[in-house]
Amino acid sequence: MDLQGKHIVLGLTGGIACYKAAEFCRALVKEGATVQVVMTEGALQFITPVTMQALSNRIVYTSQWDARAPNAMAHINLSREADAIVIAPCSADFMARLAQGRADELLSLLCLARPMERVPLLIAPAMNREMWAHPATRRNVAQLQADGCTVLDVGVGEQACGETGDGRMLEPQELLADVVAFFQPKLLAGQHVLVSAGPTYEAIDPVRGITNLSSGKMGFAIARAASEAGAQVTLVAGPVSLPTPRGVKRVDVRSASNMLAACMDRADTASIFIATAAVADWRPKQASDQKIKKDGSGQPPALEFVENPDILATLAQSPRARSGALYCVGFAAESHDLLANSSAKRLKKGVPLLVGNIGPATFGQDENALLLVDAHGTRELARNTKRALARQLIAEIASRMVHKE
Ligand code: CTP
Repeated sequence: MDLQGKHIVLGLTGGIACYKAAEFCRALVKEGATVQVVMTEGALQFITPVTMQALSNRIVYTSQWDARAPNAMAHINLSREADAIVIAPCSADFMARLAQGRADELLSLLCLARPMERVPLLIAPAMNREMWAHPATRRNVAQLQADGCTVLDVGVGEQACGETGDGRMLEPQELLADVVAFFQPKLLAGQHVLVSAGPTYEAIDPVRGITNLSSGKMGFAIARAASEAGAQVTLVAGPVSLPTPRGVKRVDVRSASNMLAACMDRADTASIFIATAAVADWRPKQASDQKIKKDGSGQPPALEFVENPDILATLAQSPRARSGALYCVGFAAESHDLLANSSAKRLKKGVPLLVGNIGPATFGQDENALLLVDAHGTRELARNTKRALARQLIAEIASRMVHKE
């Protein structure tokens, strides 16, 4: 669970997006966080404390005059025990209050009273598009950021008022991903990571082709982990239907040739290339324009194959990679002799780091085990979820970049 051991103060302010806060609260709890809900008077107009109490399993605070705490200082107690304060939804009015340092009700009071160096404040704005675009709100966003507050993005689209534009609160799962990412160390801040993922599809004719069992899950998990680590991430994905990780720019491709072109286009600005794709080694020499029909002879069509370009080797041999400006990481999907095959593949591809795994044991699964091979030796990352392994791998890559290995 990504938020195990974290204590979150979840603040709700007045806005229709309060209905999403209920699901967000549940999502935080499911990830292992303990959640203390604090609601403003405005929030109470949209959702009841009973709902939030049931979801958080804690009595909700709504007033600075709450007499439950023996010291009568809810604002101090609540803000001291939190690992973060997250305000979702955060109304335009509440942003103005935070920007001014107002303290005449419990939620703004505890934000002001929090120890800034150890209790971060994150806000998820929610408002009509005109209010979001208003110079006063722009000013407040800038002021809050200058004061160290993390202002999460807003969603775009249809709004409760019937208008369409920016300002809607993010969806609960998006908010959760942003909160989880917030707690990850920013090991790759300033880096641009390019990831290839998934299988490729090599057409035989308009309705048939050759592909493989790669699910893309490892590559998508790595793209997510790199983004959580603060990198700008481009994910070049073969045909898979996985959701795009938050904050990641996705480029969908089909064949190995498409994937090579997409990777080459972005390699000039990337500083790390992680090749997780299971690229087809061969493709039919000429895809037929029309569906190949049986001719009644019982003979299968004679397909001729040509070798596909090696995307990893091409990028690893580029001048940028040779000069050290592009750090290339390869994967090896093997069925046996993992160490010997991975070591040989590292040298063949000319990459500083190669990650071996057993293909049939990982394709489509949520778990994996990895063997890292570099010039200094090997390191095993024991069986774990692909998400956990992805984070470990990102940390390994970051440390090798720092030490220029
Ligand atoms: N790779 C690539 N382009 C290819 C083939 C492989 O970029 N045309 C990359 C993969 O993304 C992976 C690494 O090279 O990072 C090794 O892929 P793998 O399929 O295990 O190895 P192959 O090069 O195909 O070697 P072999 O088939 O001999 O095992």
